[in-house]
Amino acid sequence: MGRLLYDENNLPEIMSLKAPNYDNIDTSAVEPIKRVGVLTSGGDAPGMNAAIRSVVRAGIAAGFEMYGVNRGYHGLWKGEINKLDGRSVSETLQRGGTFLMTARSKSFMTDEGVLKGARMMEAYELDALVVIGGDGSYKGARALARIGIPVIGIPGTIDNDIASTEYTIGYDTAMNTAMQCIDKLRDTASSHERCSVIEVMGRHAGWIALNVGIATGAESILIPEVPYDFNKDVLRVILDGRNKGKKHYIVIVAEGVERTDDIARQIEEATGIEARTTILGHLQRGGSPTLRDRTMASLMGIRAIDCLIEKRFNRIVALQNGEITDVDIEAGLEMSKTITPELIEQAKRLG
Ligand code: F6P
Repeated sequence: MGRLLYDENNLPEIMSLKAPNYDNIDTSAVEPIKRVGVLTSGGDAPGMNAAIRSVVRAGIAAGFEMYGVNRGYHGLWKGEINKLDGRSVSETLQRGGTFLMTARSKSFMTDEGVLKGARMMEAYELDALVVIGGDGSYKGARALARIGIPVIGIPGTIDNDIASTEYTIGYDTAMNTAMQCIDKLRDTASSHERCSVIEVMGRHAGWIALNVGIATGAESILIPEVPYDFNKDVLRVILDGRNKGKKHYIVIVAEGVERTDDIARQIEEATGIEARTTILGHLQRGGSPTLRDRTMASLMGIRAIDCLIEKRFNRIVALQNGEITDVDIEAGLEMSKTITPELIEQAKRLG
């Protein structure tokens, strides 16, 4: 392979390095890619299979040999690496989860862990690695890029919390799942004239909560990005609704807000309206991907392979201004993203 930039016995601290930016490199002398590994890492997301399928099929069409790495970086360490052909990704497009399986591997972030992964890539003669996952997974890829392994990232997480991209694979399916569950909860809340307090996923971000809250006509949506006044933003809205003859109340809480049980208890104590908590949890991570997730995953997979064909390494695929593009991995991981104030304002106008 011979792409390692450093003598591993004299390796500077990986944290102090920068991944080469191929926008500034004359790649005419860089050997073309022959063998490519693909892995999924971090929390699974519906559409990851569609992304793997696209990477594998587009990679084979480009003349690459494609290898699946099982269980994320953990499997890379252990050499759980198998050749994939076009048939091995048949019947995966519509399946939730990731057939390559996934893991959260904190120890991969140590210099020793990264080197171990690089050595395994060398042993399997993999020239490049495509990583499908969230920010944490990108950091693992960036560490490999910093020591000379060409990487490409594809955004896969239900949270939509990757700064470099407007969209992450799995987000649409997770929101649709949450919306369908909340519609069902509304039926029973309405029959019992209750308040349903529902916690949705999103880690530190409120994207799922805000959109699902709009789509289900929630009374209140609590997200970590926006401070709230419990009396004004929750109790007052519920009481106003009751005065207007409402029979049920939906309060959506993003998991980053925490306190979901407390919120339900306080609503019940202050209003006398029975409140029930539902934590949708990992339900939101499963299920067959929606059309949007399948198409996004498929197009992003192709973009990843295009980067490898064009020898534009160390890129992360992104949706920007509605277009699929790619961003330098170092720059992408420096970006930040917050919920658009317009969306917050619109949700307020509806609530
Ligand atoms: O990042 C995806 C996500 O589902 C978050 O929304 C949630 O906070 C977290 O993963 C849960 O992680 P785990 O699967 O390790 O419980």
